[in-house]
Amino acid sequence: MPSSRLCYFLTTLIPSSVFLSAGVAASLPSPCTSLSTVLPAQVFFPGTEGYNTSISSYRYVQTRLLPACIVKPRYAQNVSKIVEILGRHNSTRFAIRGGGHNVNPGFANIENGVTIDMRDMNTVDISRHGEVVEVGAGALWGHVYDVVEQRGLSILGGRVASVGVGGLTTGGGISYLSPKRGWVCDSVKNFEVVLSNSSIVNANATSESSLFAALKGGQNNFGIVTRFDLKTFPQGPIWGGTITLSNASDTALLRAFTMFKDPSSFDPHAHVIIIFMYDVAQQSFFSLNNMWHSKPNGSKKALQGLLNVGPQINNTIGVAYAGEYAKISVMPVPQNARSQWATTTFAISPTILFRVHKIWRSASIRLGQKFQKANLVSSYTIQSVPPPPPGSRPNSLGFSPYANPEKDLVNFLVLFQYEDPKATQELQDSILGIINEIDKIAEVEGIKQRFKYLNYAHWHQDILGSYGQASLQRMQKVAKKYDPVGMFQNQVVGGFKLAP
Ligand SMILES: Cc1cc2nc3c(=O)[nH]c(=O)nc-3n(C[C@H](O)[C@H](O)[C@H](O)COP(=O)(O)OP(=O)(O)OC[C@H]3O[C@@H](n4cnc5c(N)ncnc54)[C@H](O)[C@@H]3O)c2cc1C
Ligand SMILES: *[C@@H]1O[C@H](CO)[C@@H](O)[C@H](O)[C@H]1NC(C)=O
Ligand SMILES: *[C@@H]1O[C@H](CO)[C@@H](O)[C@H](O)[C@H]1NC(C)=O
Ligand SMILES: *[C@@H]1O[C@H](CO)[C@@H](O)[C@H](O)[C@H]1NC(C)=O
Ligand SMILES: *[C@@H]1O[C@H](CO)[C@@H](O)[C@H](O)[C@H]1NC(C)=O
Ligand SMILES: *[C@@H]1O[C@H](CO)[C@@H](O)[C@H](O)[C@H]1NC(C)=O
Ligand SMILES: *[C@@H]1O[C@H](CO)[C@@H](O)[C@H](O)[C@H]1NC(C)=O
Ligand SMILES: *[C@@H]1O[C@H](CO)[C@@H](O)[C@H](O)[C@H]1NC(C)=O
Ligand SMILES: *[C@@H]1O[C@H](CO)[C@@H](O)[C@H](O)[C@H]1NC(C)=O
Repeated sequence: MPSSRLCYFLTTLIPSSVFLSAGVAASLPSPCTSLSTVLPAQVFFPGTEGYNTSISSYRYVQTRLLPACIVKPRYAQNVSKIVEILGRHNSTRFAIRGGGHNVNPGFANIENGVTIDMRDMNTVDISRHGEVVEVGAGALWGHVYDVVEQRGLSILGGRVASVGVGGLTTGGGISYLSPKRGWVCDSVKNFEVVLSNSSIVNANATSESSLFAALKGGQNNFGIVTRFDLKTFPQGPIWGGTITLSNASDTALLRAFTMFKDPSSFDPHAHVIIIFMYDVAQQSFFSLNNMWHSKPNGSKKALQGLLNVGPQINNTIGVAYAGEYAKISVMPVPQNARSQWATTTFAISPTILFRVHKIWRSASIRLGQKFQKANLVSSYTIQSVPPPPPGSRPNSLGFSPYANPEKDLVNFLVLFQYEDPKATQELQDSILGIINEIDKIAEVEGIKQRFKYLNYAHWHQDILGSYGQASLQRMQKVAKKYDPVGMFQNQVVGGFKLAP
């Protein structure tokens, strides 16, 4: 059983009394009491408005777990103090929360333990000098775009404004300009991090450089990031938008994306995300053909095949700032929505997308018939994998610096949104089954890839292993060095963990 799965069972099944009274904690005041003594205005207990607002701001119902208290630090010094206190209460489990957009329960919140909600650390400061924007770890992408775009600059960031900087960046991060500029994590110039011994350090290319590399893809395994210094670059508005298509266009769209992924037509300025959807309540299959190009007046030759697919139901293609696209692409979430997702990666072939589509479609129809009242919306997304950084600036994702995954690799994300909690187990079996079937076909076709993208992964998937043994061992070594007591393995139980 992968450790992430084990952790999930532990956090959900073991009653609170086991965490809160075991071992040395019994002789101390409760961790929440200690926290509220030193940060009285920043600790929130059940029943209060501050607690309720924090919990209801998680995007999906299944992540709205109920911690014993929520602490909202404002400064790195406060995070350091919190870590010092939680280190004394080492049988208390805690969670680190950024934008709250990961769908896996227990990743950014915890039942009965302590949740550190980072969202009050949301300053975005570009005053120091123009090449870097200093972003508080609890900021949301919409805010970061607003600040940099006022200066005629841009950054690599999330494509939905409400997504958090903290989770997206530490897990990798795919952005509009990623085919040319790489993963969002590789645009980090410096992480300010609170370690388990409560010291605040900078991790960058010249200082704590192994930690710097590990954090890029290793997420919450090494410390609590309190600030990201992100590289800015001059960039005006970009070209792009969404073309809505009916399922009559499915075959043409799959063919056009297959051609787009032919390495010989690679255009580093073009970025495409195709989303196929099945809304069971509406009995409707449709697709969203999203594309962007960083040169509004440049040639769109690489995108021509995709632009030709029709008949188009709607077409919003225009020219706008990345931050504007991130604002309009906010998909409304029904109040009671639950969600699961899972991911894999394969290289393009003439047949793979048609096979993948068939697998997804038949699973979706079957689930729609079974759960007619669950308000199930089943979708999948295909897009390119960003290029690796040069070898001198390694990340944890495990690609060779000489590889060109941006040319021929396809990232696949399957997403179920639904309301009926009774459907959860079967939807989980199905979503993992879909990934399994795709991986098997990819293996037969000889196009299977090891890498799976953390930020789209089901908690059951082995993600850190998918980076390869060398990367996993490097991360384990970094964790031993920077977290010798194992706080981020034993107390921060949510997320993809390093222990086998
Ligand atoms: C609507 C939507 C749009 C999305 N768009 C994109 C996209 O364009 N590109 C893309 O790559 N991904 C995208 N994603 C996926 C996204 O990257 C993940 O959901 C990611 O987890 C979001 O980060 P968060 O801070 O909101 O998450 P959270 O759920 O708050 O955190 C996720 C994980 O990160 C850890 N973490 C958060 N902050 C810190 C910190 N400061 N220090 C240490 N660990 C931390 C948490 O402990 C948790 O395990 C999208 C997701 C959604 C729901
Ligand atoms: C917070 O939510 C709980 C449970 O839903 C409710 O009983 C309580 O009245 C709420 N408190 C406030 C201050 O909103
Ligand atoms: C919180 O951080 C501020 C700013 O550094 C500091 O003045 C204050 O003492 C801190 N409080 C605690 C308890 O860490
Ligand atoms: C907790 O801390 C105590 C005292 O320092 C130590 O003996 C014990 O091994 C720690 N437990 C864990 C799980 O780290
Ligand atoms: C790297 O960290 C060191 C030590 O804190 C710091 O002096 C330096 O400015 C940092 N470099 C960057 C690029 O932030
Ligand atoms: C499109 O979806 C409808 C159901 O909404 C189905 O009846 C039809 O066969 C589908 N057409 C194609 C071309 O897949
Ligand atoms: C693109 O061309 C139009 C008209 O030719 C011009 O007004 C505009 O400034 C150009 N945009 C960019 C980003 O070069
Ligand atoms: C097309 O998209 C625009 C912009 O998002 C929207 O205002 C309009 O309602 C859409 N039209 C249809 C028919 O969906
Ligand atoms: C905390 O750990 C870091 C990294 O190992 C180390 O450099 C630092 O000296 C430690 N700080 C204290 C106060 O022990």
